[in-house]
Amino acid sequence: MSSFATHFTHAISRKPAQSITEGLRAEDVGNPDYDLFVQHHDAYVMALENAGARVTVLEALEEFPDCVFVEDTALCLPEGAIVMRPGAPSRLGEAAAMAPNLKTFFDDIRVIEQGHIEGGDILVTAKEILVGKSARSDNAGIEALRQVVSDWGYQVRALQTPPEVLHFKTDCGLLDDTTILSTHRLAASGCFEGYKIIETAAGEEAAANAIRFNDVVIMPKGFDETANRVRQAGFDVVEIPNTEAAKVDGGMSCLSLRLNPSKSA
Ligand code: GLY
Repeated sequence: MSSFATHFTHAISRKPAQSITEGLRAEDVGNPDYDLFVQHHDAYVMALENAGARVTVLEALEEFPDCVFVEDTALCLPEGAIVMRPGAPSRLGEAAAMAPNLKTFFDDIRVIEQGHIEGGDILVTAKEILVGKSARSDNAGIEALRQVVSDWGYQVRALQTPPEVLHFKTDCGLLDDTTILSTHRLAASGCFEGYKIIETAAGEEAAANAIRFNDVVIMPKGFDETANRVRQAGFDVVEIPNTEAAKVDGGMSCLSLRLNPSKSA
């Protein structure tokens, strides 16, 4: 089974900025090593390409330390793209910087102009768009998104990101149209009723931020038990080192926008 939620022709990523050492983080466990981050990012882009993506790699924006985490700046659907309104003040300008790049792929580009919402809080499945309210995404932002996507026939379901968690997708990822990889703490909230859930292993919560891209699931390296669970469920897993992005609360979904352009690109 495949859908626009798991199958894509293109992706957009952005090179890490050297200012990533100033990146936002919930807990300071030391700065990312820039050169190692670049190596990991290259491996990530290669994994997308190997999965069939044409990847546009944008230049780093030194004035925005978190600019490598492009997912928070936009939501791409087959009908068009929506420019987000990040809740972190230092990241607001990243969305405006992404907007012109979306024009290569979409004619219909909408902009969230009320409240705040970041792409990391949005999980698009084949039947609905789940949005976790968080420190970065509020009710007004979620309602603004609802208004935009209802024009295109999508239902938005507002949920709660666990309080200690940065983004909704810090704790989950779509594996196929009906299967979600989730931490126990998020799955236990009951928000995925009707979906099949594969839970991350205890102590491997950071493995939940995985992405399905065409025939593969791209996961952070180092979470063997969870990777085995995903493989045993029949998925092909590609593991990418993520130690440096993890120091600034970034993972597999944060590093790209995945899309099916509505115009030839
Ligand atoms: N460092 C990623 C973020 O906090 O948005």
